[in-house]
Amino acid sequence: MTYETLLVEVADGVGVITLNRPKAMNALNQTLTRELGEAVDALEADQAIGCIVLTGGDQVFAAGADIKEMKDLSFHDLYVSDFPRIQRDCWRAIDEARTPVVAAVAGFALGGGCELALACDFIVATDSAKFGQPEIGIGTMPGAGGTQRLTKAVGKAKAMDMCLTGRMMDAEEAERAGLVSQIVSADALLDTVRKVAKKIASHSRPAVMMIKESVDLAVDADLQDGLLFERRNFAATFAFEDCKEGMNAFAEKRKPVFKHR
Ligand code: CAA
Repeated sequence: MTYETLLVEVADGVGVITLNRPKAMNALNQTLTRELGEAVDALEADQAIGCIVLTGGDQVFAAGADIKEMKDLSFHDLYVSDFPRIQRDCWRAIDEARTPVVAAVAGFALGGGCELALACDFIVATDSAKFGQPEIGIGTMPGAGGTQRLTKAVGKAKAMDMCLTGRMMDAEEAERAGLVSQIVSADALLDTVRKVAKKIASHSRPAVMMIKESVDLAVDADLQDGLLFERRNFAATFAFEDCKEGMNAFAEKRKPVFKHR
């Protein structure tokens, strides 16, 4: 499949989606947002793909929703038109993907760009990465999860500070705050994230899915409900051939050969 605003490559069980509007700092216009939802859905449907990487390349992740496209819209347009539906469909595709989605962030991840990274399962960033919700500076507010996912990720104090002042968080602060899983140098970003994704894709697919479901539940669930869900999923993994293979391989001092990848 070819796209106007994305590059998609598949290798070693990993699908890499690169946002490709460099002249507009990968601003998320309607075409890009629609195509991104479609690309995630297509990779999610492909049983050969065990992990998806979402990146903007090594310069910029995304500078937010396309302000030039949005500026003349009315409340009525936003409320009833396709624009929020396209955006919702795109975020939902990422949110509901059972295949893990890793964000590889270099440079600005602002507004909708920060919210897009937050919708992914985890974020690997370069030391140039800058996260922010600057919508207040253009008289509006985050509209794709910035007040919600960011607060869950970094806590109320930092989320309030960022959303109310528009201040950006650099990569070091983002890692300290738990927004970013690791920082790598700019020239190592894509190689590192491809390796991370390849590692995830090499594991037993049903076990990966159960881990993702369980960690996701921890964000919203009560601890006791989450622990029960985890124990039930843990027990269920013993029904998988891959679990028997993994444990037998350990006992026999050999590498496991997982069937369901
Ligand atoms: N929408 C549309 N175009 C954008 C854009 C955006 N969000 N961000 C950057 N661009 C365009 C610029 O207009 C410029 O295009 P031209 O060359 O045609 O003028 C090009 O990208 C390069 O940008 P700058 O010249 O501004 O580059 P800079 O290095 O001086 O500044 C920046 C970079 C700090 C990211 C600055 O571009 C900026 O502040 N962008 C807007 C960030 C923002 O407010 N994002 C939130 C959008 S609203 C939102 O996302 C709502 C939501 O929750 C869904």
